[in-house]
This record gives sequence, structure tokens and C-alpha cells, in this order.
Amino acid sequence: MKSIVFALLTLVSCAHEVRIAALPIGELRKDHEAVAPQVMVTSQGKATSASALEILAREGNIIDAFVAASFVVSVERPQSTGIGGGGFLVFYSKKENKAYAFDFREVAPILAYKKMYLDKEGRPQTILSQEGALSVAVPGLVAGLYEIHKKFGKLKWEDVMAPAIDLAENGFPLYPHLKEAIHERSHLLRLDPELLKIFFTDKGEVPHLGQTIKQPQMAETLKLIALKGRDGFYKGRVANSITQTIRRHKGVMSLRDLRSYEMKERTPVKTMYKGNKIFTMPPPSSGGIHVLQILKILEPYKLSKYGPQSVEAIHKTALAMQRAFKDRAEYLGDPDFVSVPTAGLISPEYLKQMSEFINSDSAIPSQDVKKANLPYESSETTHFTIADSEGNMVASTQTINGWFGSGLSAKGTGIILNNEMDDFAQKEGTQNLFGALGGNKNLVEAKKRPLSSMTPTIVVAPNGEAVMGLGSPSGTRIINCVAQTLLNTYEYQMPLYEAVAATRIHHQFVPDEIRIESPYFPESVEKELKEKGHTIVHKELGCSIQAIKKENGQWVGVSDPRGAGLAEGF
Ligand code: DON
Repeated sequence: MKSIVFALLTLVSCAHEVRIAALPIGELRKDHEAVAPQVMVTSQGKATSASALEILAREGNIIDAFVAASFVVSVERPQSTGIGGGGFLVFYSKKENKAYAFDFREVAPILAYKKMYLDKEGRPQTILSQEGALSVAVPGLVAGLYEIHKKFGKLKWEDVMAPAIDLAENGFPLYPHLKEAIHERSHLLRLDPELLKIFFTDKGEVPHLGQTIKQPQMAETLKLIALKGRDGFYKGRVANSITQTIRRHKGVMSLRDLRSYEMKERTPVKTMYKGNKIFTMPPPSSGGIHVLQILKILEPYKLSKYGPQSVEAIHKTALAMQRAFKDRAEYLGDPDFVSVPTAGLISPEYLKQMSEFINSDSAIPSQDVKKANLPYESSETTHFTIADSEGNMVASTQTINGWFGSGLSAKGTGIILNNEMDDFAQKEGTQNLFGALGGNKNLVEAKKRPLSSMTPTIVVAPNGEAVMGLGSPSGTRIINCVAQTLLNTYEYQMPLYEAVAATRIHHQFVPDEIRIESPYFPESVEKELKEKGHTIVHKELGCSIQAIKKENGQWVGVSDPRGAGLAEGF
């Protein structure tokens, strides 16, 4: 094995010398970082990144590359995303000097209702929102890709779909994350004869690494969508198969649900941060608001003077995260159904109070987290980022939620249906798959979008050029991973690779704990955090940041070294 340097990188900040816990560098860095002058793509899949580059090399524009990569990642990471799911896109158009946010998130079926996951005694039935037909929300990905391409695309629709059809037909070698996901969800996958055929050997075993995974029915479905556009999914054979499969398994989604699905254009949330403008995803994602809150709550503390990963910086960052997640439980939901005080939550006066609240030397138990006064106002996912030579950027996070979503595939289509309904609160105070505390703004309602944490984000410099784009999978952890990558970059001035590879923490509203991923902080740091009253838990966060940044006039792409993605450019 080639030598790998296990890093405790030493970064010297103003007054203190701080040792940074970070992932091993060396070989990892070589495989996960790329530098190129014109265009750059980072994604969680090798074929996905290659497809975006191929489209750009063929003179397609950045939206063509986005659509191609979205379809390819659906095939390459069927455990994480797919046309049976949905997602978000933040797109910065240099020519217009404008950031767009597109919401092709799944919606609850028309027959969904508030108490659909409670038993007669009112107890939550988590299994129903996490597995099987009732967990499936109406997919939005195909509608989103089709509408966005119609508005901005340059190449023909069928041409941008070609790489995905090719990959589904010819297959790709099984890689470790997919193998692990097959193991993890095998109890569900084995119940579906068609998924059994794709993801297991003839003897019913999990295939070896490197064995070819082909998805012939998916190839046929994609060909139909290439021919008929969104109608190839929301009407006709595919739509009938989705609804019949769901009905057979006692779900409630109907053809009317599919036919009436609509993508929504939203206004990105934005703030000024260290001289740059950050544009990120608004509700129904909670991610954008909370990333901006965390950055702005911490800004007055000038944490760079303590150094990254110093006890003071970790302590304050954890308290800022806790504050943001309290708001998530209280104020966030689908803005088409409940009023979300977005402007108030990121207003300077509100964030000033929040900054003052975290001015504490010790941990704050969740029951003591005070409410701030809001100004009155009327009121297993994947991510990829692409930058082109004209200063445009896309950041898109897409998902079917848990690994292999509901575990159901629509018969004869190869489509794995999401379990996005679990992102709703089954009732106030319950927690979902990611431990997010459910508030009453996020209860199930017909045609409502479940609250998300997905946070595609773009940073624009004062000259109007997009200079950084990023995002990640991993449920509620996404918010904190994106916030810390931005802090590492702009507060602590780390180069992009170090900003992504550095150890990250996660604190949500409940439980009262700081979760720390490996490699952990030095013992002395963790000891001092415990003395401040923090409970420390060592557990991976599951984030896989896919980031691009302009450094010294070149694009630097970093695909999180914790995953098996690819950064590549030309
Ligand atoms: O929208 C959300 O926040 C979740 N459905 C995302 C799920 C996810 O990131 C799973 N990834 N590992």
C-alpha cells in the first residue's frame, strides 16, 4: 500500500497553535481533489461526474450537464436517489447575475392526512412512514429536470438523457457503498422479485465488489421519458405501474397525484457573509435558513482568533447549531401550507439576539434554550456541483430519502420509490429517521411537501462571479456539514481540500450532545468540552460534501474523501 499520511494538520492561527483533526491526506487527496482552468464537477459517482464533463465538452450548457448528471446519478446511486424521488437545485446564472432555486421535492398524496401514521392510541408507527407503499410521496425529479431543461437547456432532451440510458443498459461495477446499502436493506429488497434480480446474484446473495450491476427495465423507462418527456413518467405505462404497485401494497397514491405534480420555482435565501453573497435553498428546505443562521450567529465571535477546532470554537459552534435546530422544529414547514417567517429568521436583529444567547461558557440543556423574539412579519441522498467557464454554477441535492427509499419498485419499470413521507412529523414532538424533532408546521397534509434539510449552496463574489458551490447528503447533518465547510473556508481561511477533510461536529436541538466524526479531536479538547457540560458522542455523520471553489484563478473541486465520488474538470 502506498504511504498515506495520517494528518493532524497544523494550522497556525493568530495567537494560538491549533492542531486540526482531519482525514488522512496523501492518496486520498489525489483521488478526491482536482484542479482545472475551465470547468469542474464534483459528485458522488464516477459515471455521474464523467457524464457532466462529456456534455460540457460537447458544447452543452451547465443545465444540460445538470440534467445528464441527475439521470446518471439516479442509475449509479439507486440506493440514494432516483427518478422515484425528488430534490432541489440552486443555479447561478452569470449572464443574468441571478440565482434561481428550483423545488422538485416530492409531495404528499391527495389522500394523505395528519394522523395517517398514528395507531388508535395516537402512537407513531415509524415503520409505516419508512418502509412500503404508505411511505411513498409523489416523485418530482422527472418533472423538475424536464421543466428546468425546457427553460434553460441547449442540447436536445433525448441527448442529455443518453448517458443514463447507456449506463442502465451496460451497467457498472458494484462499489462498496452500494454493497453496504444492499446488505442494510436486504430484508426489503428481497421481498421485491425485480429488485432481487438486479441487486442479488442468481443464488440470492449480495454480489461481490466489481460485479456488474445492470438495470434493463430502468433503461426502458428512461427511453420512454427521452421520447415523451415528463408524460413518459407521469402518464401512461409508467404512471399506471407506479399507482398499481402502490395500490397492491395498500398505499394511497393515485394517477391524479402523478398528473397534478408541479415543480416550484422559489426565491433563494441569501445573506452577505465576509464580503460575499451566499445563495441557498429556501423552504420547504430548512437547510438554507439554518446554514445562514449558524454563520451569522457565530460571525461576531470572530472564531478565527481562537483557531478552528479550538475548544472555544467547537463549543460556540455547537451552541449555534442547537439554536438553529430549535427554530427548525418550531418554525419550518412547506411555505405553501404554513407561514414560515423566513425573513425574520435570518434578519440581523433576530440573529443578534441569538448570538447573545450563546454567550455562555457552558453547554445549554435543550429545555433552557430560550425563545428569541421574531420580528413581526405578515406573513441517502446525493449532491453534485458543477461550474462552467462562463461563471455559471449549479448545486443540486437529490434523494429518495432512506437507502433504497421505501424498498418498493414500480413493477416492470426499475423505479425505486422514495420514503420521503418520513420527513413529515407524524405528530408534534416525534423524531424522524434523522432524529429531527417534528413541529406542528410539518404535519402531514394532502399535497404538502415534507420539510427537508438539503442545502445546495452557491457563494457569489462582489464581481458577480460564482466562486464556490457545495452540498451534501445525510439528512439533518447536511446543515451542519455545509455550515462548517463554509466556516472552514471563510472564517478560518482553509484551502478547500482541508476545509472538507477536517473533522466535523453535529449538534441538533435534541439530544443534548455533540456528535463528533472520526478522526476525533485531541483528548485534551474533548476533555475541556466535557468540563463545559457537553456530552460527547463519537459517531460518523455520513456527510459527503461535494464542493467547488475558485482558488488562484483555477477551479478546485473536492469530492469528500470520506466517500467514493469524483472531482474532475478540464
Ligand atoms: O430531505 C431531507 O432532508 C432528507 N430526505 C435527506 C435524506 C438524506 O440525506 C439521506 N442521505 N444519506
